[in-house]
Amino acid sequence: MKIKLIDKKLKDIKADFEIIFLTNKNLKHKWVKDFSLFSELDFKGEDEEKLCLPEKKRIYIGLENLEHENIRVASASAIRQVLKLKIKNVKIGLYFEKNEREGIKAIAEGVLLGAYSFQKYKTKKKKINVKEVYISSENYHSKKVNIKGLKKSLEEAMIISENVNFVREIVNEAPSILNPLEFSKIARQRAKKNNLQIKILAKKELEKLGMNAFLAVNRASIYPPQLIHIVYKPKKTKKKIVLVGKGLTYDTGGLSLKLGEGMLTMKMDMGGAGAVLGTILTASQLKLDLEIHAILGVTENAIGQDAYKPDDILKAMNGKTIEVRNTDAEGRLVLADCLVYAQKEKPDFILDLATLTGASLVALGEYTSAVMGYDKKLKEDIIISSEKSGELMDILPFNKYLSKLLKSHIADISNISSSKYGGAITAGLFLGEFIEEKNKNKWVHLDIAGPAYKEKTWGENPYGASGVGVRTLIEFLKSI
Ligand code: BES
Ligand code: ZN
Ligand code: ZN
Repeated sequence: MKIKLIDKKLKDIKADFEIIFLTNKNLKHKWVKDFSLFSELDFKGEDEEKLCLPEKKRIYIGLENLEHENIRVASASAIRQVLKLKIKNVKIGLYFEKNEREGIKAIAEGVLLGAYSFQKYKTKKKKINVKEVYISSENYHSKKVNIKGLKKSLEEAMIISENVNFVREIVNEAPSILNPLEFSKIARQRAKKNNLQIKILAKKELEKLGMNAFLAVNRASIYPPQLIHIVYKPKKTKKKIVLVGKGLTYDTGGLSLKLGEGMLTMKMDMGGAGAVLGTILTASQLKLDLEIHAILGVTENAIGQDAYKPDDILKAMNGKTIEVRNTDAEGRLVLADCLVYAQKEKPDFILDLATLTGASLVALGEYTSAVMGYDKKLKEDIIISSEKSGELMDILPFNKYLSKLLKSHIADISNISSSKYGGAITAGLFLGEFIEEKNKNKWVHLDIAGPAYKEKTWGENPYGASGVGVRTLIEFLKSI
């Protein structure tokens, strides 16, 4: 599907169908042509209310206000409806509350992200008949707009959306297909295509580095562990950023085995690594002037004769010993070693993304990612970036009492808390133990366990993987 900005009035653009947004305060806007039908059809223009008039070749979508997050969701909802009809092209005006560039980005992302669904295994695939979406430069407020700026924002939105959909595609893939070796293969292909350096460290190299926590998690898997390290290094760089992603292609829980319901959807446990891969690809395509490293810790958490066990004690790459009290708290073990490895790069910022805890859903609800770390300003900057991107994130605060819950009697630290409360935070604090003192204020941890995968459509996100993380990280990187 292509999205084109057309420098013409909405009425002068020829298209098979038209999308019109309206707020309930402005039901008689100049673009509304069917006001007389509204009361008869009981349409009030309320948030997320739809009125499709196929015979008039128009669809009306209500929204609360013209903030970009509402425009994004409304655009997704509109395109889903239009895709049910046999329509080749559709037009829409330009909506925005404050910033026109934000507005066009929201429309484009809403359309492209909203149109996605995982079709690979359907014998009868849903066809996307809509080939072109025209966005008129005429806008809701009748203000003059900067066409060049709009074009740039549109292009950026298309690059971001394409990569988010790529992340969705790999997170949705069946776990026996997207195993660690397949993940590496895909990463290698994408890195090559984008002229990025890539090296993949396998078992022997991880052993040499002493990444015994990562290796322990991998032991029962028939696939070798893969530490994927991708580098984007343009000529001019302002800062050096390392992104680390949890890449569990499947999480059975290991010997602390998950029960049926809890195991289902655990193919998403590589969502952090997926988002980090998607982000570095996006950043390179947007030609951001930053040096970016993506470090993906990829393995399965399987069961078998050689599985690592509750009661095992592991020595991580930095020499710290970890008492394993639950093999299902495996992500933090993989990340501990990856974070130690990441700091060898001496980055200005270290960000990790992980589907780390069920507790983060309890804390913030299932749609919001949890942001943790030691630096207030950095955490706030991430929240600001998430707000700009349309993703939901909020801060979960560390405190010294929670940190004490990770004490072990026999090792330096336990891999689980001794309390059942605050599990997302104690997981974050565990990771923090592997961040060197001098890097503490450069690091943030994002627990994306909630929004990474949903068995329902929500906002601009489809059933299944959302590709969460890419959009916030790109906004953050742009802000540096
Ligand atoms: N991958 C899971 C976390 C998860 C849960 C992600 C639900 C997405 C949705 C993680 O490895 C895990 O199992 N965490 C445990 C930690 C516990 C054993 C301390 C959890 O959340 O139950
Ligand atoms: Zn687990
Ligand atoms: Zn996991």
